[in-house]
Amino acid sequence: MRIKHCISILVAGAALLLAGALPAQTIKIGFMSTYSGPGAAQGDQLDKGVKLYLKLNGDKLPPGVKIELIVRDDTGPNPDNAKRLAQELIVRDKVQFLTGVVWTPNAAAIAPLTAEAKVPFISANAAGVSVPYLSPYFARVSFTLWQSSYPLGQWAAKKFKRVYVAVSDFAPGHEAQEAFIRGFKEGGGEVVGSVRIPLKDPDFVPYIQRVKDSKPDALFAFNPAGRQSTAMMKAYGDLGLDKAGIKYIGPGDITTDEELQGMGDVALGVITAHHYSAAADRPANKAFVAAYKKEYGEKLFPGFMAVGAWDAMDSIFHVIREQKGKIDPDRTMELLKRFTSANSPRGPISIDPDTRDIVQNIYLREVRRTGGQLANVELETIATALKDPWKEFNKKK
Ligand code: PHB
Repeated sequence: MRIKHCISILVAGAALLLAGALPAQTIKIGFMSTYSGPGAAQGDQLDKGVKLYLKLNGDKLPPGVKIELIVRDDTGPNPDNAKRLAQELIVRDKVQFLTGVVWTPNAAAIAPLTAEAKVPFISANAAGVSVPYLSPYFARVSFTLWQSSYPLGQWAAKKFKRVYVAVSDFAPGHEAQEAFIRGFKEGGGEVVGSVRIPLKDPDFVPYIQRVKDSKPDALFAFNPAGRQSTAMMKAYGDLGLDKAGIKYIGPGDITTDEELQGMGDVALGVITAHHYSAAADRPANKAFVAAYKKEYGEKLFPGFMAVGAWDAMDSIFHVIREQKGKIDPDRTMELLKRFTSANSPRGPISIDPDTRDIVQNIYLREVRRTGGQLANVELETIATALKDPWKEFNKKK
């Protein structure tokens, strides 16, 4: 098990190393994802993003530096398990970085350990707004739900009078709910109902029936990307909400690119706000999607979690290069706070030095059929270089 989940990547500098020209330097990165249980599809995205990055960028490290990726399966939103695994990675394996982590509850359990041990922790997905407050060694390259759902609320207020809000009952769901409602109400919209659906083994039908009965103009929904989003979309179609003219809207998690083909035609016309679409025609994204398909299969599309993992590795490679392979946690955090990239598949990104959270564009997208396949087609950039709105509204004095 351990061997299966542990890979070492030898890079260009290793050749010189073998020739005796350089001292050995192995940097250990603890990578936590979800490889089993109902969340395994999300974990697979993180895994694919990290491994693709390492494969294509292995030669971009200082000479003599080698990466050892130590992979662990947190089995899903399971904070106790995640904490135990992180503890082992820190204490026994002595990792110099932690990354991966699909789930906010897991990231919240891990973060205090990273503060104690001074191990930089770069979230490739876990999006809960408050995680950065739990450790000064935490930085995020993914997103917050406020980033997608607040501007979507503002946009929706111009299109719809009455909206029903249905979200998964955990921190990112609560944040999507609060963010959308704030943006929508500020624009004069009326929320006709708002419900939180259990995260574990949900039966969407009764919730969707209630939505239908209240006859809103639109349903704003958030579920974790992956199988749950597909199941919720199916319930929306099966109960005929699309035919009743109730528009389906939400953060991009509800139409994540790797799930989209499986959602079928019911997804056509769904409007989302998000930072990443596999259909975006930016050159960096086209190159990323082509590389992903070449590596994993022509029929597969990368989703935003694969991109989060890619950018997490990109930020780690950046700080390794800047320190010439000699990693100091405080210097790493200073470098992460100033990290920017013009080459992310999602467009330009940076880290806000005050909050250690990602700054990025948010795009309004519509699911359309292009070239015989469903795609999240970007319609416009609804927010440029957006900081986490929650932190902007709740600035620490
Ligand atoms: C999270 O736990 O932070 C999370 C999980 C799935 C998502 C978004 C956020 O789609």
